Amino acid sequence: MSGLLNESFELPCGVKLQNRLCKAAMTERMSDAGCNPTELHCELYRRFARTGAGLQITGNVLVDEVHLESRGNVIMDESSSKEALKSWASAAKSPDNQVWVQLNHAGRQTNRFHTQKPLAPSSIQLKKLGLFGRPKAMTEHEIMKVIQQFVYAAKLCQEVGFTGIQIHAAHGYLLSQFLSPKTNIRHDKWGGSIENRARILIEIVKLVRKSVGPSYPISVKLNSADFLRGGFSEDDSLEVIKMLDALAIDLLEISGGTYERLAFFEAGFETKKDSTVKREAYFIDFALRIRQVSDIPLMITGGFRTRTFCEEVLASGELDIIGMGRPFITNLDDISDFLAGSIDHLDARIIKSGFKALDDVAEGGYYAKQLIRIAKGKKIQNNLGGISSAIFFLLHEMRPRFLFKRK
Ligand SMILES: Cc1cc2nc3c(=O)[nH]c(=O)nc-3n(C[C@H](O)[C@H](O)[C@H](O)COP(=O)(O)O)c2cc1C
Repeated sequence: MSGLLNESFELPCGVKLQNRLCKAAMTERMSDAGCNPTELHCELYRRFARTGAGLQITGNVLVDEVHLESRGNVIMDESSSKEALKSWASAAKSPDNQVWVQLNHAGRQTNRFHTQKPLAPSSIQLKKLGLFGRPKAMTEHEIMKVIQQFVYAAKLCQEVGFTGIQIHAAHGYLLSQFLSPKTNIRHDKWGGSIENRARILIEIVKLVRKSVGPSYPISVKLNSADFLRGGFSEDDSLEVIKMLDALAIDLLEISGGTYERLAFFEAGFETKKDSTVKREAYFIDFALRIRQVSDIPLMITGGFRTRTFCEEVLASGELDIIGMGRPFITNLDDISDFLAGSIDHLDARIIKSGFKALDDVAEGGYYAKQLIRIAKGKKIQNNLGGISSAIFFLLHEMRPRFLFKRK
């Protein structure tokens, strides 16, 4: 079956995606002690490359060695091993695909096992299972340093052979914290109006573009909203999109939620709107509003599971690229058939632990463990339970910091 999903797509920078399917970012948690990629990364990404998806976005790679999203993250800074990064990039590359690195700084969502006092726009603590310390509000100097860290990492991606980058400004990490009036109560030029809250993101995009040149793909992952009262709203998001529209970016990926509300994991979570639930993918109603204010190529990630629905939204012009995460784990061997049209449905598996407070870590742990199994050449463990997944996750995070010694 041919279809719109198989059609190529040219990005504003001139790079062509061979089809409209993207493996969205999924944190790998399998670095070595120096926080460099390993043979496990290479094997995992060889598997992803074989699916035929036109675009692979890596799991988040951190630009700062303290502010990790998870133990086992890859870090890209002056101490990184260029050899290890080159091996990863070349393993992930097929003749036709694009491989982009997602760059991130976790800000206040850095857990206590990494630091008791993370940096954030304002000193507003994330209260979740006691896992996060009270952050320190960043100084102007610290903000400028973070901007430079993103620029350095982006240039390094280009140097070692990745074919593009994505800046993570979603899911409640540092850039998303700046965007939200709930976590950013600054009174200087980095807080207040949406222009000020978006300033750090806009500065990063401008400087990265200057550094990597006009023909290197730059994407931004942004929340449609964080679904918290007084937080980042759809109207805020549209304002940021207008600002991004004025810059030369190549792909806008829309997701939603933060650690306080993991909207990116659950269908209908954001509004419980019938239309959203009926329409399979999350955040999709927002696409129509985006199209009215922006021409940036648009990808939405979250909930896509049937070929029929992918074709429907591509045909309606609501979006350009389909982003998928978990099916690249649960249905890894089926993705090429899905692209070919011989399989229509992929799994939609939601993991529960039986304890509401643990469900987020159960979901994260389940998929984290499966990714590691795939990277080791094993089959996924279908019967892995919610409690075991949560325990796996917490033990993984608690691995002591001294085991991860960087040069
Ligand atoms: C194991 C796992 C790790 C993830 N890591 C990241 C990440 O590093 N960066 C990111 O932006 N999203 C991350 N996500 C979210 C996915 O990119 C995606 O937005 C989410 O899974 C919803 O899409 P899906 O319904 O197709 O899975 C992760 C999801 C999973 C399951």
